[in-house]
Amino acid sequence: MQLKRWLVAGAVVIMAAAVAGAAPATASHPVDPAQQSLRTLGLRHNLYLGTAVDLAALNDSADPQYRATVAKEFSSVTAENAMKWAELEPTRGTYNWGPADELVAFAKRNNQKLRGHVLVWHNQLPAWLTDGVNDGSISTDELRDLLRKHITTVVKRYQGKIWQWDVVNEAVSDPWDNPPTLHYKGFWAQHLGPGYIADAFRWARAADPKALLFYNDYNIEAFGSGDPANDKTQFVYDMVRQLRRDGVPVDGVGSQGHLGTQYGNYSTLQVAAALKKFAGLGVATAFTEVDVRSQLTEGVQAGDSNEINPRLQASAANYSALLQACLADRHCLSYTVWGFTDKHSWVPGWFSDPPEGMATIMDENYQPKRAYFELKADLIYSGPPYVLPRIPQRPRR
Ligand code: G3I
Repeated sequence: MQLKRWLVAGAVVIMAAAVAGAAPATASHPVDPAQQSLRTLGLRHNLYLGTAVDLAALNDSADPQYRATVAKEFSSVTAENAMKWAELEPTRGTYNWGPADELVAFAKRNNQKLRGHVLVWHNQLPAWLTDGVNDGSISTDELRDLLRKHITTVVKRYQGKIWQWDVVNEAVSDPWDNPPTLHYKGFWAQHLGPGYIADAFRWARAADPKALLFYNDYNIEAFGSGDPANDKTQFVYDMVRQLRRDGVPVDGVGSQGHLGTQYGNYSTLQVAAALKKFAGLGVATAFTEVDVRSQLTEGVQAGDSNEINPRLQASAANYSALLQACLADRHCLSYTVWGFTDKHSWVPGWFSDPPEGMATIMDENYQPKRAYFELKADLIYSGPPYVLPRIPQRPRR
């Protein structure tokens, strides 16, 4: 009798679910995880898979696949350029909120989290600001006040809507810079000294008590094995440790993840060790701008598969190494690609001689590459005991 009851009950469940259009996985009809989106598979681990969004592409009615893919595949979005100072305030005192507001609305409609990018960076600053400093019409005191006003205005406008803010971006030099000794680089350090970093985080926290405040940089995927004095990752680690010791509200470190298949790059274990070390400071981590470019040799451009396939495989291996490392550390909250289709990638414009490209997980026709499928495989075939759900980060007051 009991068996009959169970059979009837089971039949009811299946019929009800079928009606709801969500037939449960059964032995004969399992849900094929390979058909699920990156966002769905990521949320198995409470991990947010994100992408940078080009607002012009998002609004291009002639290219609906861009918008459809952003909505389907990703649970987090970042404005590639729309929230940068030059885009937000091209003329002093006149704000262009439109594109950024559009992304905020898009994310809300599609139940996506938002990464705010970027409050303080030495690139894409409005000309009125840099010209004013250079010609002396903007004093150091006024510059600091302008920075405070910019951060306060932008963060207050989007208060409660931004999950993670890239508060300060790329403040640290690279070993190949001049001078080679690692130092605080760029416009802001030059004119305000490195103290602007702590100021920026404190001003951002004063404007939003809940957003997670990140320091974001590239070439910090792993700690070096050479001279620590020349290791950018170590420099950033020491900087964040000191900021936290000084009570500065740094909640996270964003590792951009701009890699190239022509470089050695890093093993999953090296990257996992770095994430674990940063987490030891009490901060969350995130991969914030992942792409893996390749040199577009003559053979690649001629369509020679002997030259293309190794690059596609190397790209997939690099994407996968970063994702596996992120999965391995419960404080790694999100994995964001810096664009998802070669149709809209910053790489060809920035690396033209010699030409580079092929950096994203889909080709220019939105066809998924090996890297896309490797990311899915990592998300499907990972779980306890070494991969556990993310641990939420509490914003530091
Ligand atoms: O908006 C102007 C437009 O008005 C003008 O007509 C046009 C003419 O050149 O330029 C447009 O600005 C361009 C901007 O992207 C928006 O499209 C800039 O020239 C161009 O330099 C800028 O490139 C961006 C780059 O940052 C600037 O450094 C890339 O799209 C963007 O992907 C890239 O992203 C950065 C992250 O923010 C920080 N980490 C590194 C990453 C790669 O550089």
